[in-house]
Amino acid sequence: MLELKSLKKAYHQGSQSIEIFENLNFHVKRGERVAIMGKSGSGKSTLLSLISGIIKPDEGDIFLNATAYKDLKESALNDFRATNIGFIFQNFHLVSYLNALENVMLPAKVCKVSNPKEKAIELLKSVGLGHRLDHLPSELSGGEKQRVAIARALIHNPKIILADEPSGNLDEETGNAVMDILFELIKKNNTTLILVTHSQEVANRCEKTYELVSGSLT
Ligand SMILES: Nc1ncnc2c1ncn2[C@@H]1O[C@H](COP(=O)(O)OP(=O)(O)O)[C@@H](O)[C@H]1O
Ligand SMILES: [Mg+2]
Repeated sequence: MLELKSLKKAYHQGSQSIEIFENLNFHVKRGERVAIMGKSGSGKSTLLSLISGIIKPDEGDIFLNATAYKDLKESALNDFRATNIGFIFQNFHLVSYLNALENVMLPAKVCKVSNPKEKAIELLKSVGLGHRLDHLPSELSGGEKQRVAIARALIHNPKIILADEPSGNLDEETGNAVMDILFELIKKNNTTLILVTHSQEVANRCEKTYELVSGSLT
């Protein structure tokens, strides 16, 4: 369902150029859960940004469900991303002035989900936060914030979830509890997952683990 073909990507800063990928090939099947490990600075977040279409490769093609990103205009790519991809970040990225329920409903507006409020409440209940609907992010613990973010990532039934070190800011016990919830929900929905993590234990929950070394996934 996801295919990266001969990707090349470098960052340019002044006269310096940082080569991240020279010829990256990668594919992920539908419903597969894949962990990406690798040293800090190896390009894991860059890889997720390329898959999300937020940054563009210098060369090569990305296909999600046979749609080639390079064939989409900027606005079509934005719609495509909003419809097909869900994101979970290390720092939660919740909107600080919106409560838990409003945060979860945000993607539903862009993606025209039917009955967004009912669906958001149902999801918040399924992540164990049915009693925290009105709480602002500042009134939630780290683990609770990440559970809100998981509910938000799933509200529009994305084909694929991209998670960048989702338990990286949580203590081990809280992180494991949050990962239990994430894996339970994506299994139920047969959602494809690409998960960047530094934790071998978290990676072990996935069917495949890749390590990103010198621009190659092995
Ligand atoms: N926007 C950018 N401009 C220039 N260099 C960048 C940019 N983003 C990341 N880098 C550099 O690219 C390398 C890979 O970064 P990143 O993908 O964030 O790695 P990781 O997520 O594995 O820690 C790092 O050396 C980083 O400094
Ligand atoms: Mg990173």
